[in-house]
Amino acid sequence: MSPEHVPTRVFADAEEASRAVAADIAALIRERGSLGRACVLGLATGATPIGVYGELVRLHREEGLSFAGVTTFNLDEYYPIAPDELQSYHRFMREHLFDHVDIRPENVHIPDGTVGADRVHDYAAAYEDAIAEAGGLDFQLLGIGRTGHIGFNEPGSARDSRTRLITLDRVTRRDAASDFFGLEQVPRRAITMGVGTILAARRVVLLAFGEHKAPIIAQAVEGPVTARVAASFLQQHANASVVLDVTAAADLTRFRTPWLLGPVAWDDGLIRQAVVWLARKLDKPILKLTEEDYNEAGLQDLVAARGPAYDINVDVFREMAETITGWPGGKPRAMKRPGDIDRPTDAVFPKRVLVFSPHPDDDVLAMGGTLIRLAEHGHEVHVAYQTSGNLAVFDADAVRFSEFALDFSRIFAIQPEEAARIERHLEEQLRHKRPGQLDSPEVRRVKALIRRGEARAAARVCGLPVERLHFLELPFYETGTVRKLPPGEADVAKLVALLREVQPHQIYAAGDLTDPHGTHRLCLHALRMAFERVREDAWYRGCEIWLYRGAWQEWEPERMDMAVPLSPADVVKKRDAIFKHQSQKDRAMFPGPDEREFWQRAEVRNREAARLYDRLGLAEYEAIEGFVRWKAAES
Ligand code: F6R
Repeated sequence: MSPEHVPTRVFADAEEASRAVAADIAALIRERGSLGRACVLGLATGATPIGVYGELVRLHREEGLSFAGVTTFNLDEYYPIAPDELQSYHRFMREHLFDHVDIRPENVHIPDGTVGADRVHDYAAAYEDAIAEAGGLDFQLLGIGRTGHIGFNEPGSARDSRTRLITLDRVTRRDAASDFFGLEQVPRRAITMGVGTILAARRVVLLAFGEHKAPIIAQAVEGPVTARVAASFLQQHANASVVLDVTAAADLTRFRTPWLLGPVAWDDGLIRQAVVWLARKLDKPILKLTEEDYNEAGLQDLVAARGPAYDINVDVFREMAETITGWPGGKPRAMKRPGDIDRPTDAVFPKRVLVFSPHPDDDVLAMGGTLIRLAEHGHEVHVAYQTSGNLAVFDADAVRFSEFALDFSRIFAIQPEEAARIERHLEEQLRHKRPGQLDSPEVRRVKALIRRGEARAAARVCGLPVERLHFLELPFYETGTVRKLPPGEADVAKLVALLREVQPHQIYAAGDLTDPHGTHRLCLHALRMAFERVREDAWYRGCEIWLYRGAWQEWEPERMDMAVPLSPADVVKKRDAIFKHQSQKDRAMFPGPDEREFWQRAEVRNREAARLYDRLGLAEYEAIEGFVRWKAAES
């Protein structure tokens, strides 16, 4: 019997999944329209449904999908919040959907974040009445929070809860912190439809994308029905389904341990996954796994197909041991010692290496140790910072640096009037700025410059010459807000120009898909489009592409194709490089999903990777940076 208690569809990527869900919604709208009936949609906000709304807008523009007969009810809204605030869900819905389709304003319902505290109770009851009067929800679209919330039904919300004012969970507020430019600015409460309101919809579709959603999705779909995970109540709905991309589905049994569900086709990747899983489960080195271990854990089929156990162990051990190399750019023949294996990458030495870093610090955070090695080995290393990263700089730092610039220009008599003008402008802008308000272009420039200086300082620590740093400041990022534009021609053109200028033998890029605001995802997407353009270039055909992970997570050991060990001295040097990103410290004031400082996260992650390799019986290193080989053309 499948352990999945809600029908679950898994797509290759978020775009494909979003198109499928939008097509379902469009079909429903048309079907109801053909019966002369209104279509009542329950809608969600957040990063997840943006692609669905984009596709619905396209269907409206290009395929005549009309929203004239559609009535909508949004799940929730922060409380208190004015509808024109940057983070308001009223504004979100206008920007992503309502301003672009022919929906009637009177048919749109979104909880009002401005109702007085004494009226909220009645207001919530009236919201429920309005849904009932519209005939109930035909279709409810949902996202899921890392707490398992649907709408803002945080852990503890009852199955029959209805629209009400609730207090937001700490994790939820932290996740929203960068939208609000700081945890303190995130409202403590929200008005949300209840679990009962959602379950009363005739059809419910929950969407989740990204590996940060994988653990909670596994609980919601395969775990017990419990008020601790509001989304688990969907298991009791007769017409609910879950739509995922492969990364959000990764912790479901059919992907994590498919051999437990029935016969599988054993290939090298799956064998490695099973062996590492078994070794970690039993906390044993790979070479000590026995026939009984395999049999008792449900891996009899693997032993029968590829056994005996010891042969499987040795194959996986060898393959993984060969991923370890202190020579990420290859090792020249002259340097080889007896027993060193030959790798295809050794052929060209030294190499031209091009590292793409989405923000100005991802290079050192994710692969500082590897950068140190590449520089030491004499490769020509270029680093391209894809975005300016200005959004993550505190106002106080911008003021501090503009004062420095003013003093500097006064002392050295370099157009001090101009520096004084900019400094006054900054002071003025920032004094009147409300939390979450957009920065002026000048303020953004200053913030970007701060990050440039930090990136240069960090690169110097790694031994990289600053003339090979490229600050691309891709336009898709420059919206001044957390929400980005889809990467377009201007972004791709910059990437292509640099690729053709450097003609690298080796490329490193962030394959981190967990980045909460999707900047890493968009950077990779832009790169993919650029690779498409250069695929016929002679240099590109021999080019190796390696993916590293950003700040949040490391590759699973069984997926690493290259594991670069760091010596204790490299770890200290890497830390020093990260420290140069001074504007990025004090994350507690500007937190992401994790409260630790970036350098701590990077270090823990690298040490943890080394510990795993050690526990698998491979080798005992201080720290490891992991990479997965990427074939852009195939993806
Ligand atoms: C939004 C909502 C929330 C989000 C959830 C996931 O209206 O009700 O439940 O769906 O917090 O947010 P994202 O999509 O930003 O990861």
